[in-house]
Amino acid sequence: MSSPLFEPIALGALDLKNRVAMAPMTRSRAGAGEVINVTAATYYAQRAGAGLIISEATQISRSGQGYPNTPGVFTEDQVAGWKVVTDAVHAAGGLIVAQLWHVGRVSLPDYQPDGGAPVGASSIAAEGQAMKPDFSMTPFVTPRALTEAEIEGVLADYAHAARQAKAAGFDGVELHGANGYLVDQFLRDGSNRRTDRWGGPVENRARFLVEATRALVDVWGPERVGVRLSPTGTSNGMSDSDPAATFGHAAAALKPFGLAFLHLIEAEPPHPMAGPEGSPRLARALREAFGGPVMLNGGLTRATAEAAVADGRADLVSVGIPFLANPDLVDRWKTGADLNPADRATFYGGGDAGYIDYPTRGQAAQAA
Ligand SMILES: Cc1cc2nc3c(=O)[nH]c(=O)nc-3n(C[C@H](O)[C@H](O)[C@H](O)COP(=O)(O)O)c2cc1C
Repeated sequence: MSSPLFEPIALGALDLKNRVAMAPMTRSRAGAGEVINVTAATYYAQRAGAGLIISEATQISRSGQGYPNTPGVFTEDQVAGWKVVTDAVHAAGGLIVAQLWHVGRVSLPDYQPDGGAPVGASSIAAEGQAMKPDFSMTPFVTPRALTEAEIEGVLADYAHAARQAKAAGFDGVELHGANGYLVDQFLRDGSNRRTDRWGGPVENRARFLVEATRALVDVWGPERVGVRLSPTGTSNGMSDSDPAATFGHAAAALKPFGLAFLHLIEAEPPHPMAGPEGSPRLARALREAFGGPVMLNGGLTRATAEAAVADGRADLVSVGIPFLANPDLVDRWKTGADLNPADRATFYGGGDAGYIDYPTRGQAAQAA
């Protein structure tokens, strides 16, 4: 079954063999020192049929961590761990970019180097619950607002992590600006009440996004950098009084960089990542404002992915849970085959089960 989804596409310097990317997914299986586990090489290589793999979110510094066993890319050991993964993906004919992450207020003192409060754009706690190192849940704590000098330090951490990702053999990087983490905390007015040049009007709230992007671009060049945003998502207690204006400005502010791609999450209800009832549909306008390739994500099936590309909302799509459960997802979409169901109990933490044992169609047929 031919479809634009299976046509190649160039995203900056990244030549994708198809338009179905693997969305970033945290699996919380890193080992000591937050070094990516060696089994991740098998997990990602199994999914090298994706046009592009976006790695699980990877912290740029210790203070950027907010969940158990998530990998980093700031120490030499972490780089060596990722090199095994990127080599395996390349040997399998795939491309992989590192999703660079600072969780900001979505952390706990347990993860902080000094055992103190996590940092955020403002001193406003997220609504909801954080995950402790033992995977139990606890209410979010009130973060400490970053000082202007500290903001410069976090931007330097993005630059350092970008250099380390290069040493680790990635094909590029994606700035994690979505889902209520630090970049998003600066961008949206529900979490940013600053009165300095990093807060207030949208031009100021978008400054951190722009400067973090610049840090990555300075290392990689724009043609190997993407940015992920979630304009109407409410994950981690997020809100904005005018998402169309905020994200319209953000997309336009990113335009001059000439980035490889803009990655948007815009799910439809009842998907858990859909915005509140009545949220505007922004993908089309943001693609226009950004002026470069847009990757759309959120509950997409082959049919809805195809529609999004055909009707001008996106140039390509990314797929999360179906890719987690179907290493050969592109082949299954191509042939109209049934999909393996996903086992939510093994999403986060644990071993090989629910990680590298989802069968391809060929393996399922052999076992039958
Ligand atoms: C297990 C799991 C882990 C996730 N981890 C991340 C992550 O590290 N970074 C990120 O930007 N999104 C993360 N997401 C969100 C996915 O990238 C994606 O936006 C979401 O699953 C919706 O797409 P889908 O309906 O195709 O699964 C995660 C989702 C799941 C299910």
